[in-house]
Amino acid sequence: MNVMPEIVNRRSVRTYTDREVTDEQVALLIEAARLAPSGSNTQPWDFLVVRSREMKEKISKADHDQKWMMQAPVFIVCVGNLKYRDDGDMERVIRDSAIATEHILLQAEHMGLATCWTGWYTQEEMRAALGLNERCYVAGVVTVGYTDHKPSPVSRRRIEYPVL
Ligand SMILES: Cc1cc2nc3c(=O)[nH]c(=O)nc-3n(C[C@H](O)[C@H](O)[C@H](O)COP(=O)(O)O)c2cc1C
Repeated sequence: MNVMPEIVNRRSVRTYTDREVTDEQVALLIEAARLAPSGSNTQPWDFLVVRSREMKEKISKADHDQKWMMQAPVFIVCVGNLKYRDDGDMERVIRDSAIATEHILLQAEHMGLATCWTGWYTQEEMRAALGLNERCYVAGVVTVGYTDHKPSPVSRRRIEYPVL
């Protein structure tokens, strides 16, 4: 198995068609997140699947009012939650929930779905929009759908690395 095609071809997509995403497809995306690694296998994450216009409006408003988000039929909200860690270490919750979020992006690419990880919000505002408490950290709101406008790749800087 080679995941480089998904890694190379994934783009942040901000234009979606009307084509629906099924519950089965969403379940596979969440399955990919469920299998992500996490420190001490704590799995400190929860996911919310958002399909209603009303909730999508609330969320996209809290997310810097990014109106393009409304085109996407589904949002998956990736939430780190301290309730899964006895030590109260939010930094580790954030780290682990970000890994799970990336798994969603790569599995979606594999399935021919378009996504964009969004995070242009304050935790206070996004928690309020979602009715979450301060033990939660919203790692990302991922828009999911189909596109006929896949953007061109954006550049990455070169990495020089020491071999120690
Ligand atoms: C944590 C995070 C937050 C992001 N937030 C937003 C966002 O709010 N709105 C947006 O349009 N793109 C957002 N992006 C997408 C980035 O702009 C994008 O990943 C970057 O420009 C590289 O482009 P690519 O994903 O197509 O390779 C976010 C990406 C990450 C990882």
